[in-house]
Amino acid sequence: MQTTPLQTESSRRNFLATSAAGAVTLAAISRPLHAGAFAAGSDLLKVGLVGCGGRGLGAAEQALNADPGTELVAIGDIFEDAAERARRSLTRTYNKEGAAPRVTVSDDTCYSGFDNYLRVIEKSDVVLLATTPHFRPQHLRAAVEAGKHVFCEKPVAVDAPGVRSVMESSEMAKAKGLVLVSGLCWRYHPGKLATFEQIKNGAIGDIVTMQCCYMAGGVWDPRRTRDKCDSEMEYQIRNWYYYTWLSGDFNVEQHIHSLDKMMWAMNDQVPETISGSGGRQVRTDAKYGNVFDHFDIVYTWPNGVKAFARCRHWPNCENEVEDYIFGTKGRVNVMSHKIEDFAGNVIWKYDGPDGDMYQIEHNELFASIRSGQPINNGDYMCKSTLMAIAGRMAGYTGQRLTWDAVLNSKEDLSPKAYEWTDNPVPPVAIPGKTPFV
Ligand SMILES: NC(=O)c1ccc[n+]([C@@H]2O[C@H](COP(=O)([O-])OP(=O)(O)OC[C@H]3O[C@@H](n4cnc5c(N)ncnc54)[C@H](O)[C@@H]3O)[C@@H](O)[C@H]2O)c1
Repeated sequence: MQTTPLQTESSRRNFLATSAAGAVTLAAISRPLHAGAFAAGSDLLKVGLVGCGGRGLGAAEQALNADPGTELVAIGDIFEDAAERARRSLTRTYNKEGAAPRVTVSDDTCYSGFDNYLRVIEKSDVVLLATTPHFRPQHLRAAVEAGKHVFCEKPVAVDAPGVRSVMESSEMAKAKGLVLVSGLCWRYHPGKLATFEQIKNGAIGDIVTMQCCYMAGGVWDPRRTRDKCDSEMEYQIRNWYYYTWLSGDFNVEQHIHSLDKMMWAMNDQVPETISGSGGRQVRTDAKYGNVFDHFDIVYTWPNGVKAFARCRHWPNCENEVEDYIFGTKGRVNVMSHKIEDFAGNVIWKYDGPDGDMYQIEHNELFASIRSGQPINNGDYMCKSTLMAIAGRMAGYTGQRLTWDAVLNSKEDLSPKAYEWTDNPVPPVAIPGKTPFV
């Protein structure tokens, strides 16, 4: 099969966020720190966390568990309450009487506001990026430009200009010998690794078609009402899931895990066309911003292989999270790590240890820094993010799109300004009317 490279022109949002205290500059915090600089094993690795929600807290714990030489030195969240909460919780868990503290975040290194990430990056050797997806390209670029190793949660962007920026940052990380580990955690899961090895070794013959679904009930209801927020911008960022500019829509935020497995099965070769449908049937209230609640997308590769990708957020309906891959000799149930022939006989099943993929990805990140052999997951994290964005665009517009058109899309979902003011958002997309940009 022909490889379609994920490449395009340079661009984008090379800005510093608007902030009252925007005096920190990238030049001032730039300090090259290639992998191997910590090869001694006992050197302290200073860790900084940006984005103190559920995943950020988890990532910080995993970083501290991964390597006894790590210390959490700085924390940043756009909201002060979230940063303080994380600091308290991690300090309680990791600082034990009679032992050296693992969390040394002080009043001076616990940051909030739009520029929190610059201050965290300045203090750290390794930065954990776990905010709302919109900010990832901006934060990753700053971290890599400053010469820091990165753990980068998925998705890595919400629009094509964001993906292009992350592609550049990933290349820059490679050139600087920095470690870049993606939060697409299934790629670190022992059972999935063994299953994909079987596929690559020909256990099901040639792949013919694939099906993945992420049918779930939805996430949290808006967490904070408008009357409890000081601005519309605060309201949207507190309730980021429901705004396309912040989450990318739920197929980008969540279904990316399934799409990434399809991409993995195809050896990270990208699909050629993307088409399908989507809409908003259940989550219609204005409090749910402008995202859809279901998508049905078909991805077609140059050799004719198709992936049928469905996802929805409908409460009280059947839930199903599965990935199936069908080949000329058999079929795979990826989540069950099981391969069957067409008579239904199980011809292979993984029976190894389960393993905590979240912990494993951090173990590998820190081992990679210590060994001086930098991991770089940039290629697939960009491709899988763009695959999800392409599905959203096909669903929003109702048009058949090509990969190249999506990759070169000019649609930039960024707000006019990063300020605590009003922030008008586009109406809910209407297929057939919403244009591809
Ligand atoms: N790999 C996985 O399995 C997995 C699981 C859950 C979440 N995630 C990803 O992790 C990210 C965070 O998800 P979550 O569940 O922790 O959400 P969350 O809402 O619990 O936390 C997000 C945090 O980011 C903060 N934030 C928003 N903008 C910020 C900015 N500009 N600077 C600093 N902080 C900012 C928010 O205030 C919030 O505290 C998302 O991208 C999500 O897709 C990945």
